[in-house]
Amino acid sequence: MKPKVIVNVAMSADGKIALPDRSEVKISGEEDFKRVHELRNDVDAILVGIGTVLADDPKLTVKDRFVENPEHPLKVVLDSKDRIPKDAKLFREGDFLIATTKKVDRDGWIKCGYGDKVDLSKLMNVLEDRGIESILVEGGGEVIYSFFKEKLVDEYYVFVGSVVIGGKNSPTPADGIGSKDIDEIIRLKLYDHQDLDDGMLLKYRVEYDD
Ligand SMILES: NC(=O)c1ccc[n+]([C@@H]2O[C@H](COP(=O)([O-])OP(=O)(O)OC[C@H]3O[C@@H](n4cnc5c(N)ncnc54)[C@H](OP(=O)(O)O)[C@@H]3O)[C@@H](O)[C@H]2O)c1
Repeated sequence: MKPKVIVNVAMSADGKIALPDRSEVKISGEEDFKRVHELRNDVDAILVGIGTVLADDPKLTVKDRFVENPEHPLKVVLDSKDRIPKDAKLFREGDFLIATTKKVDRDGWIKCGYGDKVDLSKLMNVLEDRGIESILVEGGGEVIYSFFKEKLVDEYYVFVGSVVIGGKNSPTPADGIGSKDIDEIIRLKLYDHQDLDDGMLLKYRVEYDD
């Protein structure tokens, strides 16, 4: 069965997820961090794009101050052009899978597709074959939009923090090329909301037409 895909992101009240220069900004507070680490602990894999690794250098682990005896999920990075730094923090602890394309020849890296970008349906097959049943997609905007466009997202969680970042070049939860016309717009069903820290968590299911 296709792994369940949950997208989780924190955005400002004006719909941005980082500063205009793409550097990280604290949007959530402790309650939301705890929720995210518990969520990480519950899934089989956490997935990000190389843009997020280069901007934030995340560890992608479960912090034991939030979860006792954490089970670290597999870390998956989409990196078609082999741009990941050797000393990226995510290599320090736990298992990882770097998904690339046929153009990259690197031992241990997983080739998914012949094009310019990682072929997400091929990657989903690889992950399914490895027994992965749930994936938490944490960003960034380009990767999240690709998952929506490929109709792979089951649930979308967005924490809306009480800050304004501004800037037309600031990344948003769903960047990439965007919808060409109204038929490509992705429709969501809000099924839960929760006050957290000084913001609000919104939980949606995705309603694809076919
Ligand atoms: N607030 C939050 O919750 C949050 C969470 C995460 C990230 N962020 C922010 O998001 C920003 C990074 O986002 P981003 O959009 O620049 O980068 P991204 O989505 O993390 O990564 C995009 C890159 O992934 C690679 N990729 C490979 N296959 C892909 C595919 N099928 N679809 C899409 N991308 C694919 C491409 O690079 P190659 O062609 O080189 O492979 C692409 O440029 C940073 O500013 C970070 O701080 C915020």
